[in-house]
Amino acid sequence: MSGAKQSRPKGTQDFLPPQSEDRRRVEEVARRLSRLYGYREVMTPMFEHTEVFVKSSGDASDIVTKEMYEFRDRADRSLTLRPEGTPGVVRALLEGGLRGSSRVFYVGSYFRYGRPQKGRYREFGQYGVEAVGEASPLTDAELIILGDQFYHDLGVADCRTLVNSIGCRECRPQYREKLVGFLGEHRDELCEDCRLRIDRNPLRVFDCKNESCQQVLADAPSPSNHLCDACEEHFATVRYALDRAGMQYELADRLVRGLDYYNRTVFEYVSDRLGAQDSLGGGGRYDYLVEEFGGPPTPAAGFALGLERTMLAMLEPARPERRHLAFVVWMTPDERDEALEQLAKLRAAGIAARMDFDATKPKRQFKSADAVGAACCVVIGPDEVARGVYALKDMATGEQSEVPTNMIVPEVRALFRD
Ligand code: HAM
Repeated sequence: MSGAKQSRPKGTQDFLPPQSEDRRRVEEVARRLSRLYGYREVMTPMFEHTEVFVKSSGDASDIVTKEMYEFRDRADRSLTLRPEGTPGVVRALLEGGLRGSSRVFYVGSYFRYGRPQKGRYREFGQYGVEAVGEASPLTDAELIILGDQFYHDLGVADCRTLVNSIGCRECRPQYREKLVGFLGEHRDELCEDCRLRIDRNPLRVFDCKNESCQQVLADAPSPSNHLCDACEEHFATVRYALDRAGMQYELADRLVRGLDYYNRTVFEYVSDRLGAQDSLGGGGRYDYLVEEFGGPPTPAAGFALGLERTMLAMLEPARPERRHLAFVVWMTPDERDEALEQLAKLRAAGIAARMDFDATKPKRQFKSADAVGAACCVVIGPDEVARGVYALKDMATGEQSEVPTNMIVPEVRALFRD
């Protein structure tokens, strides 16, 4: 490689501090809430056999037809970087001998080869939860509430929750037939993509962003008006539970979601702050997927929330001006060993601390402490050592006080509390 500067691949992102720390905070909220609702973390490979995604996300979905990072390994196997979490999780639960119900969550990187733009990347983060083995509409409602609480806790502004039902194996065929009839009558007014969808996956036409298609679709029969009694009842209970919980949501009878495995309840969180890529996250019920993977009939539901879009929609995070970091400074090289001991003591007490090992003068050490945003300096000088004290400098105010050496840890802690 020549000395030319390298840039990151298109559609990827770097997270340098402090953005990396903002991102971790988002992930921490995800983990905390998941545990609060009884979910346990699951980790699955970054890549799977391509078949896993084709079979579940759907061979007519955009993800599978246009966006997969598919490659052949040295043994000529077709593998794909995971574009979403659900298929790998279902595969893993089955391979691990799925018994009874499992509530699992994941936070990680996913890969889709789309056209990069604001909020759309080729590598992006998702926080997902899957409730596998749960049939009740109360599960659907609780998932919707959990996602909403995630956005609420992170201070995401202008988040709206859209909810719909797209029926089941019983009622969808009749509805599909009706929709195909309608689309056939309007074939000439539809875009190329939608015309293809008529035969392959007609429900997907509702995802089309094309203005003229949207006009045609305004009169199309909607899935939620063609539910069988069981689906109708299921959806009514979801809404009842949401109402009881005081949850604000909108019924969106054109919401179908871009993946093939859904049935009954589907939902999406959208934000007007995001522009074209307005979907913050989404999910729904997928009662047939486990069976399609060769498992026993197992109802399931889940969601995935995009981490970058969440961060884009968040109000500017309130970052403390100074980090909870103590800097240890020596005045003359004679105190260097004592400074190293103090550094170890602070860390042993759980206080983040560092020194500038390269600085040969105190002035330079203070400059480093300021540059990294340390909240305080523990200053060790010859006079102080003789009297059994250190100086503690508050870097925000510049104030300095003398503290007995055995009181340094509680005093630094007290300073971090402000
Ligand atoms: P999805 O709607 O394809 O659902 O993705 C969920 C979220 O991931 C989106 O709302 C968005 O925030 C984020 N996302 C998707 N693609 C990108 C991208 N290229 N760049 C940035 N963010 C993106 C699923 O993935 C399903 N597995 C959800 C689910 C779980 N359903 C049931 N369980």
